[in-house]
Amino acid sequence: MKAWLSRLTADLPSSLTSCEDLARFELAHAIPSVSFEFQHDPALGEEFRISRKENHAVCIAGGSAGILYGAYALIRNFLEGNSLPDHLESSPRYSLRMINCWDNADGSVERGYSGQSLFFQNGKLSYDPFRMRELGRLMASVGLNVLCINNVNVHFPAQLLLEDMLPDAAALADLFRPFGVRLMFSVDFSQPMRHGIPTADPLNPAVLSWWKETAARVYSAIPDLAGFLVKADSEGRPGPFTYGRNHADGANMLAEAVRPFGGIIVWRCFVYNCRQDWRDTMTDRPKAAWEHYAFLDGTFADNVILQVKHGPFDFQVREPVSPLLLGMKKTNLAMELQLAQEYTGQQIDLYTMIPMWKELFEELPEENIMSVAAVSNLGNDENYTGHPLAAVNFYTYGLLAWNPAIDPRKAVSSWVNLTYAFSPEDERTLTDLLLSSRRTYEKYTAPLGLGWMITPHTHYGPNPSGYEYDLWGTYHKADRNAVGIDRTASGTGYLLQYPDDLQRKYADPETCPDLYLLFYHRLPYSFRMKDGRTLIQRIYDDHFEGLAETEKMSRLLLTLPFPEPDKTVISDRMQRQLHNAKEWCDIINTFFHRLSGADDLHGRVIYE
Ligand code: GCU
Repeated sequence: MKAWLSRLTADLPSSLTSCEDLARFELAHAIPSVSFEFQHDPALGEEFRISRKENHAVCIAGGSAGILYGAYALIRNFLEGNSLPDHLESSPRYSLRMINCWDNADGSVERGYSGQSLFFQNGKLSYDPFRMRELGRLMASVGLNVLCINNVNVHFPAQLLLEDMLPDAAALADLFRPFGVRLMFSVDFSQPMRHGIPTADPLNPAVLSWWKETAARVYSAIPDLAGFLVKADSEGRPGPFTYGRNHADGANMLAEAVRPFGGIIVWRCFVYNCRQDWRDTMTDRPKAAWEHYAFLDGTFADNVILQVKHGPFDFQVREPVSPLLLGMKKTNLAMELQLAQEYTGQQIDLYTMIPMWKELFEELPEENIMSVAAVSNLGNDENYTGHPLAAVNFYTYGLLAWNPAIDPRKAVSSWVNLTYAFSPEDERTLTDLLLSSRRTYEKYTAPLGLGWMITPHTHYGPNPSGYEYDLWGTYHKADRNAVGIDRTASGTGYLLQYPDDLQRKYADPETCPDLYLLFYHRLPYSFRMKDGRTLIQRIYDDHFEGLAETEKMSRLLLTLPFPEPDKTVISDRMQRQLHNAKEWCDIINTFFHRLSGADDLHGRVIYE
């Protein structure tokens, strides 16, 4: 057994068919000295209530999944060395806690850094039932309950909806059911056109009928399928715009098709002009999602969830929270995170995400955000996440989706403890190191909220002007005097999409937090930061600091007693991270030095 469950008994028998069976099995092996009783109460659903009986048995009350989550909460607690609580009650903050895999039918994984797909090969579903049970266990042990197995870019011939693949998909759903995990499928909006319907217009009755029949067929094979995930009119995917319809028309049509079966439509809001002319200064990509969706607030069916990336761009190391998540009060929303380290080090560089997520969750309103989703960082590598330490992101995502109030340190040290059982001192060292890794990466990569200085397409390593004259709307406009884009009312007006208090906070460079400065403002290199340093000096300082922190991180990491094979993989990747950090530091500093002509006040080496 890999990752944090290595301290559980190795093999789960294939005979386990329900959450209660699984809970009983796990408890009997992990905490054999205690007797457990279950009180099944369907009304509690995923909630669990743990109490002590007079006979000292521990009672877990809950719905089926609640009992399972209660069992794993106790096991995590116990393995971490704590005594069993006499009383513990908990229920998840978000009802759908989803993992979105970007796995293709040919076995490749879009933005995957951990090997090939766990689910597909050669155009067919192909999986190892043993690994599926391990994955179910990884998910259930941290409360994750929905697994979308195929890429949002649905490449033909991934035809999960068709009769020839459905039996295998149904068998896969059976494997995950005891773990409280329901499957979800990404669908292609134009799919009816592959089956003799001449259009995919959502208002055409033949299109709705096709989806109704398809939903009926799929749900008869998998009655508890969570629903369909849709990327439409986004980066070349088909969608309602082709027919002059809006996204409520599209999503509501699909919602009607799955409604009889209790299904939901998760509709992504990653819609922007990906063929922008860099000369066009009127278009500002971060404004796009709001422009496409905000006016539709209140018009989506109640079984539609709009899935919004956490920031207005695309999973950069630092972005403000998307205004859609704050502004669409009459629509069901899900925040989308990305465990796959696409822009954040590709599971070579260390990048623990929970400090970043915490900042985001703190901004979210209570009411209508009912779900969270995260792009998977898993693949068929032996350890699932390529870099063994990247598993901390999967684990802490689950804990945070259950309870966003959790302390990041507690979540990370829990993972370290369960995974490595180090001495308290080593556990603290690794926890500190992981918690600081995001800020370190941020320092040596793109400065102060600017983002996008990464190598185009592969998204690893520096290339400060790689995207500057490209089609993607991701420009920094650095010249010899200044850098950044003014997104306030006097600039592109992006900031006007936020509530008043946030507009006030970010509009003035004097009050805008430094880390977001260049996201909202275009500033001269001589701009004085709050601590008195000039902007250019701060750019240099951050990059040198980021590199120095990486060097220190490397030294510390290599002193820790990781078992093999983790030790070798970690030290190999750390070498690559060091190289990457040096490239970023030198290239970004040289880039800004050449433009600005400003010397580093401390006389450190900046190459010509
Ligand atoms: C990014 C990523 C793509 C992905 C897209 C999405 O642009 O680079 O690979 O398809 O996000 O979220 O749909």
